[in-house]
Amino acid sequence: MIGMRVFFVIGTRPEIIKMAPVIHECEKRSIEHFVLHTGQHYSDNMSKAFFDDLSLKAPDKNLNIGSGSHSEQTAKALLGIEKELLSYKPDVVLVQGDTNAVLSATIVAVKLHIPVGHIEAGLRSNDVRMPEEHNRRLTDHASAFLFAPTEETAETLRGEKVWGRIFVTGNTVIDALEKLIPEAEERIANSKFSNRNNFVLLTMHRAENVDDKKTLTGIIEGLISLDEEILFLAHPRTVSRLEEFNLMEMIKNNSRIEILEPVSYLIFLGLMKRAKYILTDSGGIQEEVTAPSINRRAFVLRTSTERPEAVSSGHVSVVGVNPKEFPTKIKEYVDKGLDVHMPGPYGDGLASERILDILVDYI
Ligand code: UD1
Ligand code: UDP
Repeated sequence: MIGMRVFFVIGTRPEIIKMAPVIHECEKRSIEHFVLHTGQHYSDNMSKAFFDDLSLKAPDKNLNIGSGSHSEQTAKALLGIEKELLSYKPDVVLVQGDTNAVLSATIVAVKLHIPVGHIEAGLRSNDVRMPEEHNRRLTDHASAFLFAPTEETAETLRGEKVWGRIFVTGNTVIDALEKLIPEAEERIANSKFSNRNNFVLLTMHRAENVDDKKTLTGIIEGLISLDEEILFLAHPRTVSRLEEFNLMEMIKNNSRIEILEPVSYLIFLGLMKRAKYILTDSGGIQEEVTAPSINRRAFVLRTSTERPEAVSSGHVSVVGVNPKEFPTKIKEYVDKGLDVHMPGPYGDGLASERILDILVDYI
Protein backbone atom coordinates (compact mmCIF):
# COMPACT_ATOMS: atom_id res chain seq x y z
CA MET A 1 0.00 0.00 0.00
CA ILE A 2 1.52 3.31 -1.07
CA GLY A 3 0.00 5.38 1.74
CA MET A 4 0.83 2.84 4.46
CA ARG A 5 0.96 4.22 8.02
CA VAL A 6 3.29 2.44 10.43
CA PHE A 7 3.06 2.67 14.22
CA PHE A 8 6.24 1.77 16.11
CA VAL A 9 6.18 0.85 19.80
CA ILE A 10 9.41 0.83 21.80
CA GLY A 11 10.05 0.77 25.54
CA THR A 12 13.62 -0.19 26.42
CA ARG A 13 17.27 0.24 25.40
CA PRO A 14 17.50 -2.76 23.05
CA GLU A 15 14.23 -1.88 21.32
CA ILE A 16 15.50 1.63 20.54
CA ILE A 17 18.68 0.15 19.03
CA LYS A 18 17.00 -2.59 17.01
CA MET A 19 14.04 -0.51 15.82
CA ALA A 20 16.21 2.44 14.73
CA PRO A 21 17.15 1.00 11.31
CA VAL A 22 13.49 0.19 10.57
CA ILE A 23 12.44 3.74 11.49
CA HIS A 24 15.23 5.11 9.30
CA GLU A 25 14.06 2.91 6.43
CA CYS A 26 10.55 4.40 6.75
CA GLU A 27 12.06 7.89 6.65
CA LYS A 28 14.11 6.99 3.57
CA ARG A 29 10.98 5.73 1.77
CA SER A 30 8.81 8.62 2.99
CA ILE A 31 6.42 6.18 4.68
CA GLU A 32 4.21 7.89 7.25
CA HIS A 33 5.00 6.67 10.74
CA PHE A 34 4.52 7.35 14.43
CA VAL A 35 6.93 6.35 17.21
CA LEU A 36 5.51 5.66 20.66
CA HIS A 37 7.92 5.17 23.57
CA THR A 38 6.22 3.59 26.57
CA GLY A 39 8.86 5.14 28.84
CA GLN A 40 9.71 1.82 30.51
CA HIS A 41 13.34 2.93 30.22
CA TYR A 42 13.66 6.62 31.07
CA SER A 43 17.12 7.35 32.52
CA ASP A 44 19.18 9.35 30.03
CA ASN A 45 21.78 6.58 29.84
CA MET A 46 19.08 3.95 29.11
CA SER A 47 17.03 5.94 26.61
CA LYS A 48 17.98 9.43 25.34
CA ALA A 49 21.64 8.48 24.78
CA PHE A 50 20.44 5.89 22.26
CA PHE A 51 18.21 8.32 20.38
CA ASP A 52 21.29 10.56 20.07
CA ASP A 53 23.79 7.89 18.99
CA LEU A 54 21.35 6.34 16.52
CA SER A 55 20.31 9.75 15.11
CA LEU A 56 16.65 9.19 15.92
CA LYS A 57 14.26 12.07 16.36
CA ALA A 58 12.44 12.24 19.70
CA PRO A 59 9.43 9.89 19.94
CA ASP A 60 6.08 11.33 18.81
CA LYS A 61 4.62 10.25 22.14
CA ASN A 62 6.20 9.13 25.41
CA LEU A 63 3.81 7.48 27.85
CA ASN A 64 6.34 7.85 30.70
CA ILE A 65 5.11 4.66 32.35
CA GLY A 66 8.44 4.22 34.19
CA SER A 67 9.31 1.41 36.57
CA GLY A 68 6.87 -0.85 38.38
CA SER A 69 5.55 -4.39 38.53
CA HIS A 70 4.89 -6.22 35.28
CA SER A 71 1.16 -5.63 35.69
CA GLU A 72 1.60 -1.93 36.42
CA GLN A 73 3.84 -1.43 33.39
CA THR A 74 1.59 -3.47 31.11
CA ALA A 75 -1.67 -1.91 32.30
CA LYS A 76 -0.42 1.67 31.92
CA ALA A 77 0.99 0.88 28.48
CA LEU A 78 -2.28 -0.79 27.35
CA LEU A 79 -4.29 2.33 28.09
CA GLY A 80 -1.76 4.76 26.62
CA ILE A 81 -1.18 2.77 23.44
CA GLU A 82 -4.92 2.28 22.84
CA LYS A 83 -5.55 6.02 22.93
CA GLU A 84 -2.79 6.73 20.39
CA LEU A 85 -3.78 3.87 18.08
CA LEU A 86 -7.40 5.03 18.00
CA SER A 87 -6.25 8.49 17.05
CA TYR A 88 -3.45 7.59 14.53
CA LYS A 89 -5.27 4.65 12.88
CA PRO A 90 -2.18 2.88 11.48
CA ASP A 91 -2.16 0.03 8.96
CA VAL A 92 0.35 -1.94 11.00
CA VAL A 93 1.92 -1.90 14.47
CA LEU A 94 5.57 -2.92 14.67
CA VAL A 95 7.08 -4.33 17.86
CA GLN A 96 10.58 -5.69 18.45
CA GLY A 97 11.72 -8.38 20.87
CA ASP A 98 10.16 -9.58 24.11
CA THR A 99 9.60 -6.78 26.60
CA ASN A 100 6.46 -5.63 28.38
CA ALA A 101 6.10 -2.89 25.73
CA VAL A 102 5.92 -5.58 23.04
CA LEU A 103 3.23 -7.59 24.80
CA SER A 104 1.17 -4.50 25.64
CA ALA A 105 1.21 -3.13 22.10
CA THR A 106 0.31 -6.53 20.68
CA ILE A 107 -2.70 -7.00 22.96
CA VAL A 108 -4.08 -3.55 22.16
CA ALA A 109 -3.50 -3.77 18.41
CA VAL A 110 -5.07 -7.19 17.84
CA LYS A 111 -8.18 -6.17 19.78
CA LEU A 112 -8.47 -3.11 17.54
CA HIS A 113 -8.01 -5.40 14.49
CA ILE A 114 -4.74 -3.74 13.52
CA PRO A 115 -2.13 -6.23 12.23
CA VAL A 116 1.01 -6.62 14.33
CA GLY A 117 4.47 -7.18 12.86
CA HIS A 118 6.79 -8.90 15.32
CA ILE A 119 10.45 -8.23 14.63
CA GLU A 120 12.75 -10.91 16.12
CA ALA A 121 10.02 -13.55 16.19
CA GLY A 122 10.47 -17.22 17.03
CA LEU A 123 13.13 -17.05 19.75
CA ARG A 124 12.66 -19.58 22.55
CA SER A 125 14.71 -20.13 25.71
CA ASN A 126 12.20 -22.68 27.06
CA ASP A 127 12.95 -21.16 30.48
CA VAL A 128 9.59 -20.69 32.17
CA ARG A 129 11.10 -18.30 34.77
CA MET A 130 11.75 -15.61 32.17
CA PRO A 131 9.11 -12.89 31.74
CA GLU A 132 10.51 -12.40 28.23
CA GLU A 133 9.71 -16.00 27.27
CA HIS A 134 6.00 -15.42 28.01
CA ASN A 135 6.01 -12.07 26.22
CA ARG A 136 7.56 -13.47 23.06
CA ARG A 137 5.39 -16.60 22.90
CA LEU A 138 2.16 -14.61 23.36
CA THR A 139 3.25 -11.99 20.82
CA ASP A 140 4.24 -14.57 18.21
CA HIS A 141 0.82 -16.21 18.43
CA ALA A 142 -1.05 -12.93 17.99
CA SER A 143 1.06 -11.38 15.22
CA ALA A 144 0.09 -11.14 11.56
CA PHE A 145 3.71 -10.81 10.35
CA LEU A 146 6.51 -12.75 11.97
CA PHE A 147 9.94 -11.47 11.07
CA ALA A 148 12.18 -14.34 12.11
CA PRO A 149 15.90 -13.53 12.26
CA THR A 150 17.02 -17.00 11.14
CA GLU A 151 15.74 -20.14 9.42
CA GLU A 152 15.84 -21.93 12.82
CA THR A 153 13.52 -19.37 14.43
CA ALA A 154 11.17 -19.59 11.44
CA GLU A 155 11.11 -23.37 11.86
CA THR A 156 10.13 -22.97 15.52
CA LEU A 157 7.21 -20.77 14.48
CA ARG A 158 6.09 -23.22 11.81
CA GLY A 159 6.29 -26.01 14.41
CA GLU A 160 4.06 -24.01 16.77
CA LYS A 161 1.57 -23.36 13.95
CA VAL A 162 1.35 -19.61 14.51
CA TRP A 163 -1.43 -17.83 12.64
CA GLY A 164 0.63 -15.12 10.94
CA ARG A 165 2.90 -15.18 7.88
CA ILE A 166 6.53 -16.07 8.59
CA PHE A 167 9.49 -14.37 6.88
CA VAL A 168 13.22 -14.86 7.46
CA THR A 169 14.81 -11.40 7.47
CA GLY A 170 17.99 -11.42 9.59
CA ASN A 171 18.23 -9.39 12.78
CA THR A 172 17.98 -5.60 12.58
CA VAL A 173 20.71 -5.26 15.23
CA ILE A 174 23.24 -6.13 12.52
CA ASP A 175 21.85 -3.28 10.35
CA ALA A 176 22.21 -0.81 13.25
CA LEU A 177 25.64 -1.96 14.31
CA GLU A 178 27.41 -2.25 10.97
CA LYS A 179 26.34 1.26 10.02
CA LEU A 180 27.74 2.75 13.23
CA ILE A 181 31.08 0.94 13.51
CA PRO A 182 33.22 3.68 11.88
CA GLU A 183 31.69 6.31 14.16
CA ALA A 184 32.13 4.01 17.16
CA GLU A 185 35.86 3.64 16.43
CA GLU A 186 36.20 7.41 16.37
CA ARG A 187 34.14 7.91 19.54
CA ILE A 188 36.08 5.37 21.60
CA ALA A 189 39.42 6.75 20.42
CA ASN A 190 38.40 10.12 21.87
CA SER A 191 36.97 8.72 25.11
CA LYS A 192 38.36 7.91 28.55
CA PHE A 193 38.56 4.29 27.38
CA SER A 194 41.00 5.05 24.55
CA ASN A 195 43.93 3.28 26.21
CA ARG A 196 42.00 0.36 27.70
CA ASN A 197 43.03 -3.09 26.50
CA ASN A 198 42.97 -6.68 27.70
CA PHE A 199 39.86 -6.23 29.81
CA VAL A 200 36.77 -8.41 30.09
CA LEU A 201 33.53 -6.54 29.35
CA LEU A 202 30.63 -7.47 31.63
CA THR A 203 26.91 -6.66 31.53
CA MET A 204 24.20 -8.36 33.58
CA HIS A 205 20.57 -7.56 34.23
CA ARG A 206 18.36 -10.65 33.84
CA ALA A 207 15.80 -10.86 36.65
CA GLU A 208 16.62 -14.58 37.20
CA ASN A 209 20.24 -13.59 37.90
CA VAL A 210 20.05 -10.33 39.80
CA ASP A 211 16.76 -10.45 41.73
CA ASP A 212 17.76 -13.51 43.79
CA LYS A 213 20.33 -12.77 46.51
CA LYS A 214 21.90 -16.25 46.51
CA THR A 215 22.29 -16.35 42.73
CA LEU A 216 23.69 -12.81 42.52
CA THR A 217 26.12 -13.42 45.42
CA GLY A 218 27.34 -16.59 43.70
CA ILE A 219 27.87 -14.79 40.39
CA ILE A 220 29.90 -12.02 42.08
CA GLU A 221 32.02 -14.63 43.92
CA GLY A 222 32.60 -16.42 40.62
CA LEU A 223 33.59 -13.18 38.89
CA ILE A 224 36.10 -12.43 41.63
CA SER A 225 37.63 -15.91 41.36
CA LEU A 226 37.97 -15.45 37.59
CA ASP A 227 40.74 -12.99 38.41
CA GLU A 228 40.49 -10.93 35.24
CA GLU A 229 40.41 -7.17 34.80
CA ILE A 230 36.65 -6.71 34.47
CA LEU A 231 34.84 -3.62 33.22
CA PHE A 232 31.30 -3.98 34.58
CA LEU A 233 28.76 -1.67 32.94
CA ALA A 234 25.96 -2.15 35.41
CA HIS A 235 22.29 -1.91 34.41
CA PRO A 236 20.25 0.16 36.90
CA ARG A 237 18.29 -2.93 37.97
CA THR A 238 21.56 -4.63 38.93
CA VAL A 239 22.84 -1.58 40.82
CA SER A 240 19.62 -1.55 42.89
CA ARG A 241 19.97 -5.23 43.74
CA LEU A 242 23.70 -5.01 44.54
CA GLU A 243 22.88 -2.22 46.97
CA GLU A 244 19.83 -3.99 48.44
CA PHE A 245 21.83 -7.22 49.02
CA ASN A 246 24.90 -5.35 50.39
CA LEU A 247 27.09 -6.67 47.60
CA MET A 248 28.33 -3.35 46.24
CA GLU A 249 31.19 -3.15 48.78
CA MET A 250 32.39 -6.62 47.75
CA ILE A 251 32.80 -5.33 44.19
CA LYS A 252 34.22 -1.95 45.09
CA ASN A 253 36.81 -3.58 47.37
CA ASN A 254 38.04 -5.71 44.52
CA SER A 255 40.74 -3.89 42.55
CA ARG A 256 40.22 -6.02 39.42
CA ILE A 257 36.53 -5.16 38.93
CA GLU A 258 35.55 -1.65 37.89
CA ILE A 259 31.84 -0.94 38.08
CA LEU A 260 30.47 1.91 35.96
CA GLU A 261 27.12 3.16 34.69
CA PRO A 262 25.91 1.98 31.28
CA VAL A 263 27.59 3.69 28.35
CA SER A 264 26.11 4.97 25.10
CA TYR A 265 25.83 2.67 22.09
CA LEU A 266 28.83 4.00 20.15
CA ILE A 267 31.10 3.60 23.18
CA PHE A 268 29.72 0.14 23.90
CA LEU A 269 30.43 -1.02 20.34
CA GLY A 270 33.99 0.30 20.68
CA LEU A 271 34.44 -1.52 24.00
CA MET A 272 33.14 -4.80 22.57
CA LYS A 273 35.72 -4.60 19.79
CA ARG A 274 38.55 -3.99 22.27
CA ALA A 275 37.54 -6.50 24.93
CA LYS A 276 39.47 -9.73 25.45
CA TYR A 277 36.06 -11.40 25.70
CA ILE A 278 32.55 -10.54 26.84
CA LEU A 279 30.63 -11.84 29.84
CA THR A 280 26.90 -11.21 29.73
CA ASP A 281 23.34 -12.35 30.23
CA SER A 282 22.06 -9.94 27.57
CA GLY A 283 20.14 -11.10 24.52
CA GLY A 284 21.26 -8.40 22.10
CA ILE A 285 24.93 -8.73 22.98
CA GLN A 286 24.85 -12.43 22.06
CA GLU A 287 23.85 -11.30 18.57
CA GLU A 288 26.23 -8.36 18.32
CA VAL A 289 29.33 -10.46 19.01
CA THR A 290 28.53 -12.40 15.82
CA ALA A 291 28.55 -9.28 13.60
CA PRO A 292 31.44 -9.30 11.10
CA SER A 293 32.81 -6.02 12.50
CA ILE A 294 32.81 -7.30 16.10
CA ASN A 295 33.44 -11.09 15.86
CA ARG A 296 34.22 -11.66 19.56
CA ARG A 297 33.60 -14.47 22.05
CA ALA A 298 30.84 -14.08 24.66
CA PHE A 299 30.33 -16.26 27.72
CA VAL A 300 26.71 -16.26 28.77
CA LEU A 301 25.94 -16.23 32.49
CA ARG A 302 22.73 -18.20 32.14
CA THR A 303 21.60 -21.80 31.97
CA SER A 304 19.88 -21.44 28.58
CA THR A 305 19.86 -19.23 25.53
CA GLU A 306 17.22 -18.37 22.94
CA ARG A 307 20.07 -17.68 20.51
CA PRO A 308 21.48 -21.19 19.80
CA GLU A 309 22.63 -20.03 16.34
CA ALA A 310 25.31 -17.93 18.04
CA VAL A 311 26.46 -21.01 19.95
CA SER A 312 26.66 -23.01 16.70
CA SER A 313 28.72 -20.26 15.03
CA GLY A 314 31.23 -20.46 17.88
CA HIS A 315 30.67 -16.91 19.18
CA VAL A 316 28.67 -17.77 22.30
CA SER A 317 29.14 -20.34 25.09
CA VAL A 318 26.55 -20.74 27.83
CA VAL A 319 28.52 -21.19 31.08
CA GLY A 320 25.78 -21.10 33.74
CA VAL A 321 25.80 -19.20 37.03
CA ASN A 322 27.30 -21.76 39.43
CA PRO A 323 30.40 -20.07 40.93
CA LYS A 324 32.10 -23.44 41.34
CA GLU A 325 31.75 -24.14 37.62
CA PHE A 326 31.56 -21.08 35.38
CA PRO A 327 35.03 -19.60 36.10
CA THR A 328 36.69 -22.96 35.31
CA LYS A 329 34.69 -23.36 32.10
CA ILE A 330 35.66 -19.85 30.97
CA LYS A 331 39.36 -20.46 31.76
CA GLU A 332 39.25 -23.68 29.73
CA TYR A 333 37.74 -21.86 26.75
CA VAL A 334 40.33 -19.07 27.05
CA ASP A 335 43.15 -21.63 27.13
CA LYS A 336 41.83 -23.21 23.93
CA GLY A 337 41.86 -19.80 22.19
CA LEU A 338 39.20 -17.19 21.62
CA ASP A 339 39.29 -16.76 17.85
CA VAL A 340 36.06 -17.41 15.96
CA HIS A 341 36.21 -18.55 12.36
CA MET A 342 32.55 -19.00 11.40
CA PRO A 343 30.34 -16.28 9.89
CA GLY A 344 27.60 -14.76 12.06
CA PRO A 345 24.07 -16.19 11.74
CA TYR A 346 22.03 -12.98 12.02
CA GLY A 347 22.09 -11.67 8.48
CA ASP A 348 23.74 -9.20 6.18
CA GLY A 349 22.58 -5.88 7.65
CA LEU A 350 19.59 -5.60 5.29
CA ALA A 351 16.86 -6.92 7.62
CA SER A 352 15.10 -3.54 7.86
CA GLU A 353 14.86 -3.18 4.09
CA ARG A 354 13.39 -6.68 3.85
CA ILE A 355 10.83 -5.96 6.57
CA LEU A 356 9.58 -2.86 4.79
CA ASP A 357 9.56 -4.55 1.36
CA ILE A 358 7.33 -7.25 2.87
CA LEU A 359 4.97 -4.76 4.53
CA VAL A 360 4.65 -2.71 1.34
CA ASP A 361 3.77 -5.92 -0.56
CA TYR A 362 1.26 -7.35 1.91
CA ILE A 363 -0.54 -4.38 3.46
C1 UD1 B 1 13.65 -4.78 30.63
C2 UD1 B 1 13.00 -5.94 29.89
C3 UD1 B 1 14.08 -6.96 29.48
C4 UD1 B 1 15.18 -6.28 28.69
C5 UD1 B 1 15.73 -5.09 29.46
C6 UD1 B 1 16.71 -4.34 28.60
C7 UD1 B 1 10.72 -6.65 30.48
C8 UD1 B 1 9.94 -7.64 31.24
N1 UD1 B 1 12.04 -6.65 30.73
O1 UD1 B 1 14.22 -5.29 31.81
O2 UD1 B 1 13.51 -7.96 28.67
O3 UD1 B 1 16.21 -7.22 28.48
O4 UD1 B 1 14.64 -4.20 29.79
O5 UD1 B 1 17.61 -3.59 29.35
O6 UD1 B 1 10.19 -5.88 29.73
N2 UD1 B 1 15.63 1.47 35.86
C9 UD1 B 1 16.18 2.73 35.95
N3 UD1 B 1 16.16 3.52 34.83
C10 UD1 B 1 15.64 3.12 33.66
C11 UD1 B 1 15.07 1.86 33.59
C12 UD1 B 1 15.07 1.02 34.70
O7 UD1 B 1 16.68 3.14 36.99
O8 UD1 B 1 15.65 3.89 32.70
C13 UD1 B 1 15.68 0.56 37.05
C14 UD1 B 1 14.46 0.67 37.96
O9 UD1 B 1 14.92 0.47 39.28
C15 UD1 B 1 13.62 -0.53 37.52
C16 UD1 B 1 14.67 -1.55 37.13
O10 UD1 B 1 15.74 -0.79 36.58
O11 UD1 B 1 12.78 -1.00 38.53
C17 UD1 B 1 14.18 -2.57 36.12
O12 UD1 B 1 13.66 -1.93 34.95
P1 UD1 B 1 12.55 -2.62 34.04
O13 UD1 B 1 12.34 -1.82 32.83
O14 UD1 B 1 11.36 -2.99 34.83
O15 UD1 B 1 13.19 -4.01 33.65
P2 UD1 B 1 14.62 -4.32 33.00
O16 UD1 B 1 15.37 -5.15 33.98
O17 UD1 B 1 15.25 -3.08 32.51
N1 UDP C 1 24.45 -1.63 25.52
C1 UDP C 1 24.93 -0.33 25.50
N2 UDP C 1 25.57 0.16 26.60
C2 UDP C 1 25.78 -0.59 27.72
C3 UDP C 1 25.29 -1.92 27.73
C4 UDP C 1 24.61 -2.42 26.62
O1 UDP C 1 24.79 0.36 24.48
O2 UDP C 1 26.37 -0.08 28.67
C5 UDP C 1 23.68 -2.15 24.36
C6 UDP C 1 24.24 -3.40 23.71
O3 UDP C 1 25.16 -3.09 22.69
C7 UDP C 1 22.99 -4.08 23.15
C8 UDP C 1 21.88 -3.61 24.07
O4 UDP C 1 22.41 -2.54 24.83
O5 UDP C 1 22.68 -3.60 21.86
C9 UDP C 1 21.46 -4.75 24.95
O6 UDP C 1 20.57 -4.31 25.92
P1 UDP C 1 20.23 -5.18 27.18
O7 UDP C 1 21.34 -6.10 27.47
O8 UDP C 1 19.84 -4.20 28.22
O9 UDP C 1 18.91 -5.93 26.75
P2 UDP C 1 18.63 -7.34 26.06
O10 UDP C 1 19.28 -7.36 24.75
O11 UDP C 1 19.13 -8.41 27.00
O12 UDP C 1 17.15 -7.38 25.99
